[in-house]
Amino acid sequence: MVSIDDYKGREQSYVKHVLLEQYLEALVHKTASAYPQIVYIDGFAGPWQSANENHEDTSFGIALRALRRAKASWRAIGRDVKMTAILVERSPTAFKELEQLPPKFPDIEIIPLKGDFISLIQTILSKIPGGAFSFFLLDPKGWRIRLKAIQPLLSRPNSEVLFNFMFEFINRAASIDDPLVIAGLDELFISSSWRSAFAKANTSDERKAILVGAFENAMIAIGQYKYVCETTILRPDKDRPLYSLLYGTRHDIGLEVFRDCQVKALEAQAKTRAETKVGKAEEKTGQGEMFASLREMAGNEADEFLKSQEKSARDALIALAPDRSAPVLYKDLWPKILSKHVVRLTRLNRIAAQLRKDDILEFPDWEPRRQVPQPNYRIFAKK
Ligand SMILES: C[S@@+](CC[C@H](N)C(=O)[O-])C[C@H]1O[C@@H](n2cnc3c(N)ncnc32)[C@H](O)[C@@H]1O
Repeated sequence: MVSIDDYKGREQSYVKHVLLEQYLEALVHKTASAYPQIVYIDGFAGPWQSANENHEDTSFGIALRALRRAKASWRAIGRDVKMTAILVERSPTAFKELEQLPPKFPDIEIIPLKGDFISLIQTILSKIPGGAFSFFLLDPKGWRIRLKAIQPLLSRPNSEVLFNFMFEFINRAASIDDPLVIAGLDELFISSSWRSAFAKANTSDERKAILVGAFENAMIAIGQYKYVCETTILRPDKDRPLYSLLYGTRHDIGLEVFRDCQVKALEAQAKTRAETKVGKAEEKTGQGEMFASLREMAGNEADEFLKSQEKSARDALIALAPDRSAPVLYKDLWPKILSKHVVRLTRLNRIAAQLRKDDILEFPDWEPRRQVPQPNYRIFAKK
């Protein structure tokens, strides 16, 4: 497991890595049951600001361990799945470290590629066999990316992506009236239609929703994803968004697993932020004891956020439940809620069960002794 001790002064990377680790562990294990090969592609691999000599605090280190564990657990029951990692890095110094990896992971095929990620897209694609499942991590340092140039990769079938949208930089750039910056943003968003809403927005939350929403739409259009979900990574010591991780998938199950992992990452973020803030206050005042008790009392900001998301998920479930003349199956309804609200499916199931008890929703197929709705249950609003 990633350790917070490796992330002093860059706690935001810890949160990003908790999410990546949780998700890759689940994804690789699950997809390896159906695909003969899994390919992890790290488009901007680093290492970058790594403090751990085994690179356990880097995205590729996390991915290689997830690939290794999934391979071993399937092999133990007689299934051999080929695991491949394609690691792209432009910096010659960082690339030297990637070149040292293959002998350390003889169970995994590691393909380090040196150079500019965009220029290497055709090479990368040529190394992913048609029958493989692939996962792309795109975590650049800046925001100048021509989204159209990555389309061949993002639109590959049997693939998912996690994209680091550098919100803080992009938000700043969005207010700059310079032709080069404007052209760069147009290439990132593949459109400039967000600009009029952005100009009219009154709050920073509204501006964020516009930029993130526009980029989600661009990812859906370019990658033909069914769902794109966002996780906000906050500054460790300030209540300000730093970047957004955008996850794209074409599968309901991916959405379900992602929300599980996202909730865990948000809880880790709340904990590290509370500790970072208290630590800073201690440093400033020298009053360690007083702040030690505050640290214990520190509320969990994730709880507050998740509660509000649950409430909006409940409202959406009621609003989307059809009339009794045209019921839908629960399995077709829950993804619509999970795609827009940060709520785990297990939690939404309990909310649905409560709405049934409260006579707000009806499930005519509900079987005796069932606690939660089953995928094939019909659902409609009880009006
Ligand atoms: C933010 S760091 C990646 C961190 C890594 N994903 C992690 O979480 O551990 C970005 C890396 O991309 C590299 N880089 C920047 N531009 C690049 C490009 N056009 N092509 C390939 N690598 C690039 C940088 O040298 C840096 O190592």
